[in-house]
Amino acid sequence: MKSKILIALFLGLIVSCQTKKETQRIKIVKEVPSNFQMYKTSEMAELMRNMLAKNKEVRTKIIEGEEIGDFNKEYIKIHTAKLTDSTDFDENFLAFAKYFEREHRALFEVSKEERKEQFNNAVASCLACHQVKCKGPIPRIEKLLIK
Ligand code: HEC
Repeated sequence: MKSKILIALFLGLIVSCQTKKETQRIKIVKEVPSNFQMYKTSEMAELMRNMLAKNKEVRTKIIEGEEIGDFNKEYIKIHTAKLTDSTDFDENFLAFAKYFEREHRALFEVSKEERKEQFNNAVASCLACHQVKCKGPIPRIEKLLIK
């Protein structure tokens, strides 16, 4: 039984962002109900994880001087994907999302010599929104920056 309680706690801890939200989600459960479901990832959280993974690939390609392909159209979902906390979706969010799209599109338009700088600008646009909306993943996103 103890291990199940630990699993429930762990699931509470790995969910998205701020500690504020995490503490709300962590409930000590004596019995794990039989219909116990895994914490469901929001569309936005899933998109974000993909973006982190895809940007790691692009980063490696830029460092190794390989071609980077085209702007990933999936990123446009940032304007519409459902969030874990729908109150995060406000004018600020939309403004940051526009800025994010512009900087990421630009990466595929600049010359090869400018790619490193533009990639860092694109990552900065991720960070700008996260500073305001979701501080938790910032250390993971910062690792993308090409020094
Ligand atoms: C317009 C605001 C905004 C932009 C731009 C943005 N994020 Fe996010 N990010 C969020 C929000 C809000 C969440 C929480 C999503 C949720 O829980 O539904 C999040 C969640 C995440 C997570 C955690 C997902 C999880 O596992 O729960 C990661 C990682 C992440 N973002 C990486 C990135 C990366 C990398 C970029 C840029 C390529 C980026 N974000 C751009 C707002 C943004």
